[in-house]
Amino acid sequence: MADEITLTIDGREITAKPGQTVLQAAMDAGIYIPYLCYYPKMKPYGACRTCVVETEANGRKMTVASCTAPAANEMIVRSDTEQVVDLRRGIIDLLMSEHPHGCLTCHRIELCGPQDICQRHVAVTDRCTICPKNERCELKDTVRMLELDLRTPLNYHRRDLPIHTDDPFYDRDYNLCIVCARCVRVCDEVRFDTALTLTNRSGVALVGTSHGTSLLESGCEFCGACIDVCPTGALVERDYKWEKAAKSVSTICTNCPVGCQMVAEVNRFDKVIRFRGDLAGEANNGQACFKGKFGYDYPNSKKRLKHPYVREGGVLRRATWDEALDKIATSLKKYSPGQVGVVASPRGSNEDNYVAQKFARVALGTNNVDSAHNFIPEVFDRLRDRLGYGAGTNPAWQLEKAGCVLAIAGNPTEEQTVLTVPVKKAARAGAKVIVIDARETELTRYASDWLRVRPGTESFLLAGMARVILDEALEDQEFIADRTSEADALKQSLWNFDLSKVSSVCGIDETQIRRAARTVAMSVPSAILFGVDTVEASERGDLVDAVINLAVLTGGIGKESAGVFPLYSGANTQGAMDTGCAPGLLPGHRQISVAADRAHFEGLWTSSLPDSAGVGAPSMFEAMRSGDIKAAVLMADGVNPEAHQLGDVRAALGTLEFLAVSAVFDSELTASADVVLPAATYMEQTSTVTNLERRVQLVRQAWAPKNDERAGWEFFSSLASRMGVGGFDFAESTDVFEEIRQAVPEYAGLSHDRLRHGGIQWPCPAEDHDGTAVLFAEGSGGKKLALKAAPFPSEAQNGTKAPLVLAPGRVLHQPERDPEVVRRGDMNYIERDEIIRIHPDDATDLGINEGDRVDVSDWDGGTLVNGVARLDSPQRGMVGVTTLFGTIASAMYDSDDPDPSPRIPGLSLKRIRLMKVPARQEAEVAAD
Ligand code: FES
Repeated sequence: MADEITLTIDGREITAKPGQTVLQAAMDAGIYIPYLCYYPKMKPYGACRTCVVETEANGRKMTVASCTAPAANEMIVRSDTEQVVDLRRGIIDLLMSEHPHGCLTCHRIELCGPQDICQRHVAVTDRCTICPKNERCELKDTVRMLELDLRTPLNYHRRDLPIHTDDPFYDRDYNLCIVCARCVRVCDEVRFDTALTLTNRSGVALVGTSHGTSLLESGCEFCGACIDVCPTGALVERDYKWEKAAKSVSTICTNCPVGCQMVAEVNRFDKVIRFRGDLAGEANNGQACFKGKFGYDYPNSKKRLKHPYVREGGVLRRATWDEALDKIATSLKKYSPGQVGVVASPRGSNEDNYVAQKFARVALGTNNVDSAHNFIPEVFDRLRDRLGYGAGTNPAWQLEKAGCVLAIAGNPTEEQTVLTVPVKKAARAGAKVIVIDARETELTRYASDWLRVRPGTESFLLAGMARVILDEALEDQEFIADRTSEADALKQSLWNFDLSKVSSVCGIDETQIRRAARTVAMSVPSAILFGVDTVEASERGDLVDAVINLAVLTGGIGKESAGVFPLYSGANTQGAMDTGCAPGLLPGHRQISVAADRAHFEGLWTSSLPDSAGVGAPSMFEAMRSGDIKAAVLMADGVNPEAHQLGDVRAALGTLEFLAVSAVFDSELTASADVVLPAATYMEQTSTVTNLERRVQLVRQAWAPKNDERAGWEFFSSLASRMGVGGFDFAESTDVFEEIRQAVPEYAGLSHDRLRHGGIQWPCPAEDHDGTAVLFAEGSGGKKLALKAAPFPSEAQNGTKAPLVLAPGRVLHQPERDPEVVRRGDMNYIERDEIIRIHPDDATDLGINEGDRVDVSDWDGGTLVNGVARLDSPQRGMVGVTTLFGTIASAMYDSDDPDPSPRIPGLSLKRIRLMKVPARQEAEVAAD
């Protein structure tokens, strides 16, 4: 096939890429052809015919839809002939025969305001000026371009459909729908949710929900993709519905580690009013999730902290920054290096994290520094030990071409949502998805095999799969011979992993283990996503070893569409690790004890590095609880004190003798603080963050801080200066980044200026280097990969009685159950009996029968959930409950918290008590 196609559009010769349509070629060449149902990155649909053109190729003249017609060599295209323009006008007239269009075809369209007297007597509710999409409407733009005017008949068929305003986050007004089906298609072919569908009403096609009438019961994940593609006012965000944007700023969402590139629309009062996925974003390809799409507006909140506060006489009083810094500086000096600690924010930028750790090491002389949500250091450390970097190896969107995706102990559909968009795409294309998890998550719905393993035995199961692969000679022998040297040692160690023993310990059938192993080995390229949600801290290192062993055996490292993806939590946890914001770790993943590195940093920072005081604390919050850390500085933006991995955060902070907190809002995190400082949000700073695929991206400032708010790096720099410590005279975040480049070899080729053109994946060692998409690729200095012997667990469990553990699950939709949506006030809510899945042996012990009402409570006696018993849990001791995602969407929408995204409850395992509800009480519940 030729590399380039040459064609002529409206007399202009242009080139197109093979496979492009005429419309795409025209768009790339800057030639406007109107379109409505076409949308970039979706399949051509050819429904609206607005893009009609005349083509001439091989002597044949045709009138075609340019969005579906392939560009051909020497094709002549005319988009502006009288015949084409007339045809297009007729098509638009037809479209408008069901759309209020009195304003669209009026010559006063540019002049009228919402309250003006209409000379055409168009009803107020039918005017463009009161449409939430006014001046963002693609139909209006198209009509303007076509110069339709008063010749179009004014009357139209009014559908008189009810407007749906009773579901969370967005409104649906199908009276304004032009049935382009973009929303239905994006939901189906991009997000794979099929929550929306084309419906039929009296023989007329319309859009609606696939199941029931509420989005809560339709399988909607509230990603907002449908809103972003809607060309009219049919689908609009409810918040700031009628607000007009004064400018758009390309930035990065800081609600999860995927780092979606977003377009923030900002009004003239410097409020962010809309957030939509940026089609140019390589991390997200224009997609977003519910947290990003609808959890962006906390910078607008009136509840924000605006000024510093200092506690005096038990009461926080407003203070100046100078007073606050003095108080912190004086207080911290009272403690020895081992007694102080710095905890950075999970949303903190690379600049914030770098200066925070530099402050801890240089100004306080301690290694007690970490990012608040780095609660899986075991994963990072083991990855770094095994691979050299504690990071994911491949770009996320390569997953769409994977042959197999193995997902272990994580809930990426909710926690790293956009990462799973390409996984679902791969599944739709026939790739195998295997889930190893005790909980029912949305990904299990795409799984060819769901291994509902006994929690905590995941690494054991992976070792069993490795054993099957070796037994059946399914390993990638060429890759192993070329890239590893320890295959024999691994084989030896796996002799212990007899499949019947593995089956008994993990509670998974032998045939299922074999099938999963064969799939991973044979459906290459295989990629592995792994979290540690159900894995104890002491077992996480083993899990990483087992993951890497499996990846190496199947040749899944250093190749496209393969690799390993650690499911970190916290928006910039990767950046925090890269910049050394972790105990015992210097920037660039260097361990602090390496003498040469110490010399390097001492030269860079003109200060000696501390001895390893404090290194080895299980976590910063744990060290506070135990009293080892007595004074701390906490960056609280985005910290979820309810995250069970952090333990009792309130107790930890309450134990401190001195606490300074930089925060966006007052909360339980600031309640016991001696000094509270107002933090700048992502909208008020230009800085960088690094996502889970090592992509360093630029967060852009939309407005300057309006009060006394400061970014983290500014705060630590001014505090260090106040303490008389040199080396912190950074005037701009770019100054900090320049020092990061010197400290972190993988960032050496990056700069804010380069990142303005898009994110770059590290390692990027030089300014002319494009970054590294795939780590450890052959020919790129790919290192030898180590296989590690698999230790046989000393305390292998089997099917004996175990303490009851709740394995909570959550899915978008359960077609096997009737939807149960009720109306409360103006809103819809899911309300139903949950099914409590109990192992038959546990049920016998507890005297519970199938169908009994049961109450699940935590060990403090608080009810977690109640419902109806079903005796089909596959594991002794494991109680499963799968709720619907719609409950989370409703809770987030109703939340009074100005920043609800970080606090959305995860799916943590919990030790529980299970009780049968007595019959009389059951009758009362039923009556309620
Ligand atoms: Fe081509 Fe709709 S844009 S048919």
